[in-house]
Amino acid sequence: MAFFRRRKAKFSDVDMEHLPRHVAIIMDGNGRWAKRRGLPRKAGHAAGAETFRTIATFAKELGLSYLTVYAFSTENWRRPADEVASIMALLEKYLHEAIQTMAKDKVKMAFFGDLSPLPPHLQALCRETEEISKGYEGCQVNICLNYGGRDELVRAAKAFALDCVEGRADPGHLTQEALGNYLFSKGVPDPDLIIRPSGELRVSNFLLWQSAYAEYYFTDVLWPDFTKEDFLRAVSAYQGRSRRYGGV
Ligand code: IPE
Ligand code: IPE
Ligand code: MG
Repeated sequence: MAFFRRRKAKFSDVDMEHLPRHVAIIMDGNGRWAKRRGLPRKAGHAAGAETFRTIATFAKELGLSYLTVYAFSTENWRRPADEVASIMALLEKYLHEAIQTMAKDKVKMAFFGDLSPLPPHLQALCRETEEISKGYEGCQVNICLNYGGRDELVRAAKAFALDCVEGRADPGHLTQEALGNYLFSKGVPDPDLIIRPSGELRVSNFLLWQSAYAEYYFTDVLWPDFTKEDFLRAVSAYQGRSRRYGGV
């Protein structure tokens, strides 16, 4: 018997005047969702892709400026080859569908991460979705694919070093802002709120630089079960926080 129900979060719980500008999500828990149902892990990834579709559309409806999701990390290659292949196949399916509905949905899409190890046709699809949607207004959805925060910082260090060697930059004048321009997230403001479903309380190499002052929200809900109400609950919790940025 359910003695205790999760309270249903509504639009009215959220102050629409003070929405976070940028929300990021670690889309975790697909495997456990499938396991609980006696299904293969790939069924969890398929269900997770549907949740992503729902939440991305909702972020735009709400009026957020940026949604960044962690879809595949630089460490996720350690998984069995058939699981990796099923994730890549789902991505391909998702991108084909996104391209078909883009003119209607008008969600601007971008990719953070080194796409070069991905199958060439998948890389081409990523570039195509970015290209088609680049003029769209409203929410920008950043999909982190083969993304790792440490990898991103090493890449930035290499690119900066090369600019120094070739005379385009000067180490003595490097600022935080200038370093930020070497990251995948160039031009995107830092996330205000980072949501991690699935009960894990760790960062797992996500947005290490950008999360310096992000507010974290953790929930036990597994990503495929994550609803618009869960999203609003996270936004509402965020709105109750006092962000001090080191001040008083
Ligand atoms: C997140 O779900 C999806 C990816 C990391 C690609 P998981 O597959 O990590 O699900 P759990 O953590 O095993 O439940
Ligand atoms: C983080 O989840 C990566 C993504 C959600 C894409 P993981 O499942 O890979 O993280 P760990 O292994 O639990 O830290
Ligand atoms: Mg996981």
